[in-house]
Amino acid sequence: MILNGNPDIILSMKYGYFDQASKEYVIDRIDVPVSWTNYIGVNELCGVFNHTAGGYLFYKSPEYHRITRFRPNGVPMDRPGHYVYVRDDDTGDYWTLSWQPVGKSLDKAKYVCRHGLSYIKYQCEYSGIWGQQTLFIPLDDPVEIWDVILRNNSGKRRRLSVFGYTEFSFHHIQIDNQNFQMSLYASGSSYKDGIMELDLFYEDNGFQYFTADNTNDDASDFDCLRDVFIGQYRTETNPEAVERGICSGSFELGGNHCGALRRVIELEPDAEIRLLFLLGEGNRDAGKKTRSKYCAPGFSEVDTAFKTLGNFWKEKLEKLQINTPHDGMNVMLNTWTLYQAEINVIFSRFASFIEVGGRTGLGYRDTSQDAMMVPHSNPEKSRSRLVELLKGLTTHGYGLHLFSPEWFEKQTKAAFKSPTVVPLPPMSQRVHGISDACADDALWLIPSIAEYIRETGDFDFAEEKFTYADTYNPETNEGMSETVFDHMKRILDFSAREIGPHGICKGLRADWNDCLNLGGGESAMVSFLHHWALVHFCALGKRLGKDVSKYEEMTAKVRESCERDLWNGSWYTRGFTASGRGIGTPASKEGKVHMESNTWAVLSGAASHDHGIAAMDAVDQFLYTPYGLKLCDPAFSEPDDEVGFVTRVYKGLKENAAIFSHPNPWAWAAEAVLGRGDRAMKFYDALCPYNQNDKIEVRKAEPYMYCQFIAGPDHSAFGRAHHPFMTGSAGWSYFAATRFMLGIRPDFDSLVVDPCVPAEWPSFTVRRVWRNAVYNITVENPDKVSKGVRECKLNGQSVKCGKAGAEIPVQGKGSENQVTVIMG
Ligand code: NOJ
Repeated sequence: MILNGNPDIILSMKYGYFDQASKEYVIDRIDVPVSWTNYIGVNELCGVFNHTAGGYLFYKSPEYHRITRFRPNGVPMDRPGHYVYVRDDDTGDYWTLSWQPVGKSLDKAKYVCRHGLSYIKYQCEYSGIWGQQTLFIPLDDPVEIWDVILRNNSGKRRRLSVFGYTEFSFHHIQIDNQNFQMSLYASGSSYKDGIMELDLFYEDNGFQYFTADNTNDDASDFDCLRDVFIGQYRTETNPEAVERGICSGSFELGGNHCGALRRVIELEPDAEIRLLFLLGEGNRDAGKKTRSKYCAPGFSEVDTAFKTLGNFWKEKLEKLQINTPHDGMNVMLNTWTLYQAEINVIFSRFASFIEVGGRTGLGYRDTSQDAMMVPHSNPEKSRSRLVELLKGLTTHGYGLHLFSPEWFEKQTKAAFKSPTVVPLPPMSQRVHGISDACADDALWLIPSIAEYIRETGDFDFAEEKFTYADTYNPETNEGMSETVFDHMKRILDFSAREIGPHGICKGLRADWNDCLNLGGGESAMVSFLHHWALVHFCALGKRLGKDVSKYEEMTAKVRESCERDLWNGSWYTRGFTASGRGIGTPASKEGKVHMESNTWAVLSGAASHDHGIAAMDAVDQFLYTPYGLKLCDPAFSEPDDEVGFVTRVYKGLKENAAIFSHPNPWAWAAEAVLGRGDRAMKFYDALCPYNQNDKIEVRKAEPYMYCQFIAGPDHSAFGRAHHPFMTGSAGWSYFAATRFMLGIRPDFDSLVVDPCVPAEWPSFTVRRVWRNAVYNITVENPDKVSKGVRECKLNGQSVKCGKAGAEIPVQGKGSENQVTVIMG
C-alpha cells in the first residue's frame, strides 16, 4: 500500500511470478487490483481477456464484427466473459473456473490464472474439485476452444452440472451500444443438432455458433436467451439457470442471445473428465464441421492445434534469444517484450479494455513504428503493414493519420449497410487535408522500410510500385503509382517544405506528442526525426546505387538548423509556438526540459557529442524517477492553448509529465549512442515491469507488460501504471535494448555487433537468426568497459571491427556460426 502518495512507505505486494519453463505469467493471488490482460488469436478471430475470464471476442474487427459483448469501464470489472460454471448437484453450491463472476471467497477457493502466449488457463480448486479452463484459438480455424478439465480430489463420488456460458454481441459496436430498435428485432437464436446458432438476420451471413463435444437437444441442457439464463434482477454472479441446475431450452427471434450449454456428469473419486466448448464464426453447418474435427474421440486435434500454436511462438522467440547477467532483461526480451510488440502489430492498438472497438484501422505513426520492431520475427506482417502505409500516403508526402487499409484495396464485396449505422464518408472525405496531418506520421515509415530491408535483404522492395491515397479510385482500383523509393522522397520533401520561420519543421496538428500542439508552431522532434529519416534514406539509396546528393545536402541543412536554433546552451529546445515562444528552454517556467527533443537530438545523429552529453545529463537530472523517465518537467499547470492540450491534462498524468513509457527506450538508445552503458541500464531498470513484480500496490497493472504511462511524481498515485499491452513502448523497448544496448543490429550487408552495456557485465551471449543463418554470439568484456569492440572472430577467423562495432558478413543460408566479440 502507498501511504499519502509517499513512495518510501510501501508494503510490497506480489500477485504472481514468471514461469520461464512454460513461458507463462502465473497469477497465484487472483484478486489483482485491476484487470491483468492477455490476447488470444493471431489471425482473424481474436479475443481480449482478463485474469477472471472477462472480455470479448471479435472476428477481423472489434468495431464491426464483435462476437461477444463487453460492457466497458463498468462495475463489476470486465463483464461479461466466457465462463464455465460448475454446480454440485447434491448441495446446490456453484462456482466458476475463473474466480469471477461467481467470486467465491478466497478463504475457501484457490484460483490461479496462467497467462501464456496466445492462451490463458484459469485454474480452480474448490470443494474437492480441481478444474481448469484453457482458452485459445487454433491458427487455422476461426473457433475459440474452451478446453475444460475437472478432477475429483474429494475422495467421494460427485454429481456435477457444468455450464458453458457466453453473451453474444450485435456485431457492430454502434448497433450494440445505441439505437437498438432494429437490432433487437432482427437477430434471432435457434438450437438444433446440439448447436446453438445466432443469426444476425440484418446482415448477410451474420452467424455465430456455440457447441460442445457432447450435446443433445434436451431443453434442460441449453438456453439461447440471455435473460432467461441469467434471470430477472440477477447478474452473471448468480444466474438462475445455474442456481436451479437446469436450463430452459429458450430461443427466440429477436432479443439478446447467449450461448449456454449444460453437461451433467458424475465423477468417481480421483476421476478426471475433459470437456470442450466451441465458440465460432459461421453458421450451424460450420459449427458441425468444426465440432467433428475438434471433438473426435481423444480430442487429438485440440492437442495438435495447441501444440502448433506453441510452435508458432517458439519459432518467433527463437529468432533472438539472449543470456545476460540481468535476469529481468532476459525474461522480458526473450518472451514478453517481443510478445507484446507482436500483439501490437497484429491488433494495431484498437482492441483492449480501453479501446473497446469504437475506432479501428491504422494509426499512421503507431503502425509505422510497430512494423519496425518485428521484421525478424514477423517479416510478412511487417511488410504488409508497410504496404498498407505506403498506400495510405498522399502525393503531398503526408500520411493519413488514421485510416482503414481496405479503403485502398479492391473491394470484393459491397460494404455492409444498416439503417442504424452512420454510413462511411465518401472517399473524398476520407483523405484529409494538410490541416489534419501530424507532422511526424510519415517520417517514421522511412526507417521502418530501411530496417525491413536490412533484416530481410529484400532490396527489390524499394522498387515496387504502390498507389497514393489521394489518387486512388475505388471503382477502378487504380491510382497514380510510384516506387517505394519515390514514396520515401515525397515524405522527405514534405518535411523540407513544411518549415517555420526558424527553419524547423512545423508541428502541424501535432507531432509524436498528441497533446503538444504548438498551435501551428515548430517542432524540434519533427526536425530531428526528419534528420533520422534522411540518414536512413541516404544509406539505403547509396546501397541501391541511387543518386542521393539532394538528400545529403538536405541532411546537412537540417543538422545545421537544429544546432543553430534548437541548442539553447543547456539542452535541446522542444519547439516554438506560433507566436515564436520557445518551449522547453532554460527560461521556461513549466515544461522546461522535454524527453522528445533531447533524446532525438542524439538518436537522430544531429547533435554533436558534447551537446548530446549535456542534453542527456539534463534528462537524467530533470526527468529521472525510480519508475522511469518523465516526459517533461516541470508539469504544466495553467491551460495554455498556444502550447496545446497537454496543459489541460492533470499534472503527472499522460503527456503532462507522467512517465510516458514509449519515449523511455529512446533515452536508453541515446545513452548507448553516447557510450554510457550504466546510464542506459539505470533508465532501463527504472521502467522495467519485471522489476515491479513485487510493487503491485504501487504499480497496480500487470508486471509482464509495458503500460502506456505511469503516473508521475506530481500525481497522488505516483508509480501507478495505466493502459497495458497496446502501446508502442514494447516495440521500442525491444528495439532499443536489442539493437542499441546489446548492440546486435542488422545492416544492409552485415550483422553489426556494437554493445553498450554496464561496465561490470563480464560477458553475455545472443543467439540471433538473420537471413536464414544462425549466429551464436558471445561478447566478452575483460576490460570492464561499456562500449567499444577490439576484436571479433567469426568461426575462428578475424572480422572487421571499427568504431561502429564488429561487422559480420552475411553467411550462407542454413549455416550455424560462432561469433566471439571482445569489448575494449
Ligand atoms: C498514444 C498515441 O497512440 C500515439 O500515437 C502518440 O504518439 C502517443 N499517445 C503520445 O501522445
